[in-house]
Amino acid sequence: ADRRAADLIIFGGTGDLSMRKLLPALYHCDRDGRLAEDTRIIAMSRGGLDDADFRGKVDAEVRPALGAAEGWDRFVNRLHHVSVDVGGPAEPAGWDALTSLLAGREDHDRVFYLASPPMTFGPFCHSAYEAGLVTPQSRVVLEKPLGRDLASAQAINDEVGAIFDESQIFRIDHYLGKETVQNLLVLRFANVFLEPIWNSLWIDHVQITAAETVGTPGRRGYYDHAGALRDMVQNHLLQLLCLVAMEPPSKNDREAVRDEKVKVLESLRPIVGSEVDRFTVRGQYTSGRLGDETVPGYLDEPDSTRPTAASHRVETFAAVRAEVKNWRWAGVPFYLRTGKRLPARQSEIVVQFKDVPHAIFAGATPNRLVLRLQPDEGIHLRLMAKEPGAGEVTLRPVPLSLSFADTFTTRVPDAYERLLTDVLAGNPTLFMRRDEVEAAWRWIDPIIAHWEGSGMSPEPYPAGTAGPAGAHELLARSDRTWHEEAFE
Ligand code: BG6
Repeated sequence: ADRRAADLIIFGGTGDLSMRKLLPALYHCDRDGRLAEDTRIIAMSRGGLDDADFRGKVDAEVRPALGAAEGWDRFVNRLHHVSVDVGGPAEPAGWDALTSLLAGREDHDRVFYLASPPMTFGPFCHSAYEAGLVTPQSRVVLEKPLGRDLASAQAINDEVGAIFDESQIFRIDHYLGKETVQNLLVLRFANVFLEPIWNSLWIDHVQITAAETVGTPGRRGYYDHAGALRDMVQNHLLQLLCLVAMEPPSKNDREAVRDEKVKVLESLRPIVGSEVDRFTVRGQYTSGRLGDETVPGYLDEPDSTRPTAASHRVETFAAVRAEVKNWRWAGVPFYLRTGKRLPARQSEIVVQFKDVPHAIFAGATPNRLVLRLQPDEGIHLRLMAKEPGAGEVTLRPVPLSLSFADTFTTRVPDAYERLLTDVLAGNPTLFMRRDEVEAAWRWIDPIIAHWEGSGMSPEPYPAGTAGPAGAHELLARSDRTWHEEAFE
């Protein structure tokens, strides 16, 4: 195992992502022996905390969710805090404090994790460079969103690229760290039976769904200017599409895998102009019932700011009919959808096969392979079977099911554990390369341009329903339906 001692510097270290995801993941890495003895975690924030305050805060806010928290003291002793205001004059002393904390450790790995808004990425890298902190052993991790369109993504990539080499830049898409997502590659490329039918001859269409029950309380500032297409489709859903659609790479290697993914993104048929109205759907939730609870609509979510014109226009649901224009996938639609305040938290990839070429039984429905990413990770293949009975032959769809929880009793690590482990080991395979991010924006931009140019508002859907009517129509037009089992 690669366990080089490192200094992991988290910018935005007391923020939501750090407290909710990064620190618990790092604790698990530590407990499982994946952090070198001498590895330190240095949080940077405006908070004005010292090490003791920060350790106290982590103890109060992170530990309770971790159960017995074996080895907690060792973990807490790795934590440090430096107060800083990036690029600003407020606390230039912060950089001095960081410099002295890092002095004499130039030969250690150094990871700058930017868990902060994208406009801080360039200034941060610049300040770190000016302070002389960027060593050859340094890496930088960028959280999403990487910009809000192609131009802003390129500008950020240029700014960061002026300080760090591409091989030192790790762009996070946390979906790639999910166990089932990695399993998709194993399923496709370590089994022989799928590959011969994994193409337009046998597959009718693919559906990729990331449904959430959560709304956006307290996130208006970010979400009004993002929306579901930028927040989820540009990154997570397109990454899943790539893994489903890519050609087998020649090796499981950082560049080989990413080369194949980028080819998929570059083969996406552009959706432009009036096609956007035909091939995309956007919605915004209104108040409704989720389980036993009545929840407010997007515009009435509690927040420190009041809704603006942008709030009225932003989509909390997006669906797109995508096409991959290459030999393997010609004519196979890839339907993507994601939304907040849907009836269930459920992410899955559904591969719908074609009808049998010649039906000798009545009532056969096509095979369907469901890769459930969350919750209840598993793989389900819908087969047709005969119902037992001596009378007439009656067909029934039956599932051939694999539940990961039942099959593997080991704890399923959070996506961030995998990703942080890979960052510390210097392995970028599960991170997005510059060309991938930019190819994804190149495809997304014209859709957003059309939406924004049309001046139309998203279609309303009540919270707790499966999205706006348009999403249903998107498939109904070609006699298809969404896979709704989990919503029933
Ligand atoms: C994030 C989005 O990238 O992914 C959030 O910004 C979303 O809006 C989250 O809620 C979903 O992640 P997960 O792992 O819960 O599916």
